[in-house]
Amino acid sequence: MQRNQWKAASAQLLKHWSRSGISQLPTSTAESHSVAASWLETHASLVFETPESANPRVNADVSSDSQVAPPIAANLVAEPSPQRQSVPFTPQAVAEPTLKSVAEPKTLAIPSSSPRSTSPISTTQPGSAGTWNSKSLPILERQVAFDALNAQVIACRKCEEIVCRRQRTVFGVGALNARVVMFGEAPGADEDRLGEPFVGAAGQLLDKILVASGLKRPEVYILNSLKCRPPNNRTPAESEIENCRPFFEAQLETIQPEYIVCWGAVAVRAVLGSTDSVGRLRGKFHFYRGAKVLVTYHPSYLLRTPDAKKLTWEDMKMLLKDMGLPIPGKS
Ligand code: URA
Ligand code: URA
Repeated sequence: MQRNQWKAASAQLLKHWSRSGISQLPTSTAESHSVAASWLETHASLVFETPESANPRVNADVSSDSQVAPPIAANLVAEPSPQRQSVPFTPQAVAEPTLKSVAEPKTLAIPSSSPRSTSPISTTQPGSAGTWNSKSLPILERQVAFDALNAQVIACRKCEEIVCRRQRTVFGVGALNARVVMFGEAPGADEDRLGEPFVGAAGQLLDKILVASGLKRPEVYILNSLKCRPPNNRTPAESEIENCRPFFEAQLETIQPEYIVCWGAVAVRAVLGSTDSVGRLRGKFHFYRGAKVLVTYHPSYLLRTPDAKKLTWEDMKMLLKDMGLPIPGKS
């Protein structure tokens, strides 16, 4: 890649970051320079084909080397997930779902131009419908914002007890224009090893629930209240959720899903700020900014308490109905 192209790309990434409200960049090291350079090589066509790169101001902004901070690439590419079992999720008292009848979910309309608001994130207001703080971003800008955010996650060392034990950070995975975000608790041992959420036993059950619902894993977005595994899978501390809040709130604000499903009590605490039980909160929609929030049991809880699966299936049916999607198994 030409040096001037590199500079233009760096400047453009910095603009994306600042527009995304990201002010703190990870430390620049020789390693981060080489990662950034290889990221730019693979993303060169994306970066350079946008109209902004033709803007002479971009080059003017980078006339001196000292003004250019190196872009820090994010390692979003997780290692392959372990083999998943193909046994379907079969909630008790519910007919085996047929998947043929499931329609393609509608994709979100994404406006082509969208200056991003720099206003601070507002407090969550459970109980009332709200709006997103910023305009919806085009998909490429979402990806750039997520790459930068993931670099911050990788560099984050706020939770002292966790950071020295983690193997990988677990940013999140899925469609950046997903209608539904699946919000879990925290990575476990498998997620910590592979860097992807919900790939262990709980993840396999989540996958079965998605298949049974006619939702495809790559079409939803999956993330947790924590990016790192708490030692021995203990419940995340309140302070750890707060340390991670800027990350998951930025992800939700960027995706702007229509729905968020909170899997278990920790997700509820993170998204709705409520310490009420899952049993009390499930069965109706709550709100987080512009999204409807549905509360259901955590897949790990369902593995221990199979009787509750039928309740989670009721919750999924409520979600599908509200989304205007067919309910598998129902003619
Ligand atoms: N449990 C969670 O809540 N999240 C994961 O990613 C894995 C297990
Ligand atoms: N308590 C939890 O933390 N999660 C559940 O899913 C159910 C009870």
